Amino acid sequence: MKTPTIVYMPSLLLSTCLVFSSLTCIVLAQQHQSPHKFLKCVQSHNSESISQVIYTKNNSSYLSNLLFSIQNIRFISPSMPRPVFIITPFTESQIQAVVLCSKASGLQVRVRCGGHDYEGLSYSSNVPFVIIDLRYLSSIKIDAEKRVAWVEGGALLGNLSYQIAKRTGNLAYPNGLCPTVGVGGHFSGGGYGTLLRKYGLAADNVLDARIINANGEILDRKSMGEDFFWAIRGGGAASFGVVTAWKIRLVQVPDIVTVFTVNRTLEQNATGLVHRWQYVADKFDRDLFVRILITRVNSSDHNGKTTIQAAFNSIYLGKIDRLLPLMHESFPELGLVKEDCMEKRWIEAVLYFSDLPYGSTVDDLTNRNPNPRTYYKAKSDFVQVPIPKHGLEGLWKFFDEDDAADAQLIFAPYGGRMSEIPESEIPFPHRAGNIYEIQHLVYWDEERNHEAERYINWIRRLYEYVTPFVSKNPRAAYLNYRDLDLGVNNEGNNTSYEEANVWGTKYFKNNFKRLVEVKSKVDPSNFFRNEQSIPTGSS
Ligand SMILES: Cc1cc2nc3c(=O)[nH]c(=O)nc-3n(C[C@H](O)[C@H](O)[C@H](O)COP(=O)(O)OP(=O)(O)OC[C@H]3O[C@@H](n4cnc5c(N)ncnc54)[C@H](O)[C@@H]3O)c2cc1C
Ligand SMILES: *[C@@H]1O[C@H](CO)[C@@H](O)[C@H](O)[C@H]1NC(C)=O
Ligand SMILES: *[C@@H]1O[C@H](CO)[C@@H](O)[C@H](O)[C@H]1NC(C)=O
Ligand SMILES: *[C@@H]1O[C@H](CO)[C@@H](O)[C@H](O)[C@H]1NC(C)=O
Ligand SMILES: *[C@@H]1O[C@H](CO)[C@@H](O)[C@H](O)[C@H]1NC(C)=O
Ligand SMILES: *[C@@H]1O[C@H](CO)[C@@H](O)[C@H](O)[C@H]1NC(C)=O
Ligand SMILES: *[C@@H]1O[C@H](CO)[C@@H](O)[C@H](O)[C@H]1NC(C)=O
Ligand SMILES: *[C@@H]1O[C@H](CO)[C@@H](O)[C@H](O)[C@H]1NC(C)=O
Ligand SMILES: *[C@@H]1O[C@H](CO)[C@@H](O)[C@H](O)[C@H]1NC(C)=O
Repeated sequence: MKTPTIVYMPSLLLSTCLVFSSLTCIVLAQQHQSPHKFLKCVQSHNSESISQVIYTKNNSSYLSNLLFSIQNIRFISPSMPRPVFIITPFTESQIQAVVLCSKASGLQVRVRCGGHDYEGLSYSSNVPFVIIDLRYLSSIKIDAEKRVAWVEGGALLGNLSYQIAKRTGNLAYPNGLCPTVGVGGHFSGGGYGTLLRKYGLAADNVLDARIINANGEILDRKSMGEDFFWAIRGGGAASFGVVTAWKIRLVQVPDIVTVFTVNRTLEQNATGLVHRWQYVADKFDRDLFVRILITRVNSSDHNGKTTIQAAFNSIYLGKIDRLLPLMHESFPELGLVKEDCMEKRWIEAVLYFSDLPYGSTVDDLTNRNPNPRTYYKAKSDFVQVPIPKHGLEGLWKFFDEDDAADAQLIFAPYGGRMSEIPESEIPFPHRAGNIYEIQHLVYWDEERNHEAERYINWIRRLYEYVTPFVSKNPRAAYLNYRDLDLGVNNEGNNTSYEEANVWGTKYFKNNFKRLVEVKSKVDPSNFFRNEQSIPTGSS
């Protein structure tokens, strides 16, 4: 976990000034003038009006800019460190200036796209830092004939789906479900959604990229080279530079798709169905994606009791008449009937799977701020052998606890295309042999935030409980469900390969070694770093 104890430069300076003579104070002030040095530096580097996109702590819009896209409000308490500057660039050259001047002034850089980082790494740091917020670099250019698109580094998934659908109903991108997730973190950490069994990950379909490296140079696939390009598709771009744009390959979807969500409680044999699902979900026709959302719900007979509900939340890339026989053959136990199903255009299915409020329309997919913010903690696991019934029943018991009122488990099926792509193709290694991925999640609200540790402990206990049922050596995890419990880099000292390997192999398996090699080559001074960035050094 992050330590809330912060040695923040301005306050350090202030207290030093109180203790020492004014002369000492002036000397110290000159040594610690990095903020002013930074401002002077960017102004001299950048002829464009960069000062108009820099928010200082004095600026009345500083706070609203900071809070703008923060998803997990665990990381915005007044005690959390805040950036010295927030920069909202409109051009690549402004970012080049910010990178070079941060380096020269000893400030760390945090890049923010959609702001969905689970541990807040895109907008918080324990050392003096600036935020490069890419929200104004968010244009999306679609070439429907060539089936490619250029997407800027600050664009969000919802707008990407929306812009594609505006051009054609038959193309899509295999990315995640939440429309406010950003392409910056999402593509560079893997990125999956309902198309993963057919087309793999978002990162599997990236064709080119533009990135600004630690020397402030703009590189594309050709000039960065294949090792560098490999690393930013799954290894997390934050360790390597600032991605200003991605070129992506669009994939084909039919005119009409079918969605359904079948809910079953414990009384309706949820345990038996979840158990059975583990034997079929990764082997289905790859046009079929059936995930399970597990939550606690009130009993339908209003007796004040609660039960567990498994929601089989699904999409089929075709019409009902082909889906029904398929389900009857491969998962008859679910008892899917025509009345459960709805045929939709692809973009309407995107809306169906989004977390937008009830009554939202397709146009709302472009809304950058549709939902109230929450507090949450998440963890991930991969399942390679079906969890036995008694294992599932033990899991349900955790949901009887008070702390689990707003907890959720999401089981996402693998197989299909995911099993065909070699583990070393990109840094994301979780391929053949994985039946499904679990995301463990717990939410709480403002009122309960003084007890945040309770919820965090709940999910840590649950994670402990599932140990015997999930992947081992390493116990694998998904980078985009970032979890600092797995381990963090040393602050100040360079983290060694051996230390970082503890969490590095969980996210990347054998690919971690190559990531360290690439990092050492392209950012030897370890300028782009955070609590879980790829370290430099020899493996
Ligand atoms: C509500 C919700 C739903 C989600 N649903 C899914 C899902 O369906 N499928 C899935 O795979 N994941 C999902 N995720 C996880 C999501 O993919 C990751 O949190 C992702 O990293 C978020 O990217 P971002 O740009 O929004 O976040 P940010 O917080 O902006 O960035 C995340 C990390 O990437 C870095 N970064 C961002 N942009 C750039 C850039 N342009 N250049 C360099 N570094 C950059 C940041 O510095 C940070 O380290 C979900 C998350 C949330 C909160
Ligand atoms: C705040 O910063 C913005 C962006 O740099 C600038 O346009 C604006 O004038 C500043 N406002 C104040 C009150 O300083
Ligand atoms: C913020 O305002 C204070 C007091 O007016 C001033 O001393 C300081 O230099 C300002 N900081 C920046 C970064 O503009
Ligand atoms: C969505 O993409 C379009 C096309 O590039 C762009 O003009 C628009 O500003 C984007 N909207 C948002 C909210 O990012
Ligand atoms: C299934 O459960 C979810 C979550 O509780 C709910 O939103 C949805 O409306 C339910 N669907 C059906 C078909 O009952
Ligand atoms: C529950 O589901 C399992 C697996 O689908 C099935 O074998 C079993 O017969 C079901 N039990 C009941 C009571 O329906
Ligand atoms: C479930 O019941 C509790 C207590 O009766 C109530 O507070 C809560 O709102 C109910 N939840 C839902 C989703 O209906
Ligand atoms: C750095 O490492 C040295 C030697 O291992 C240790 O003594 C020191 O406390 C570390 N410093 C920090 C800031 O972690
Ligand atoms: C970390 O390593 C880099 C590259 O070897 C070096 O430039 C830097 O000074 C080191 N930092 C610390 C704190 O040891």
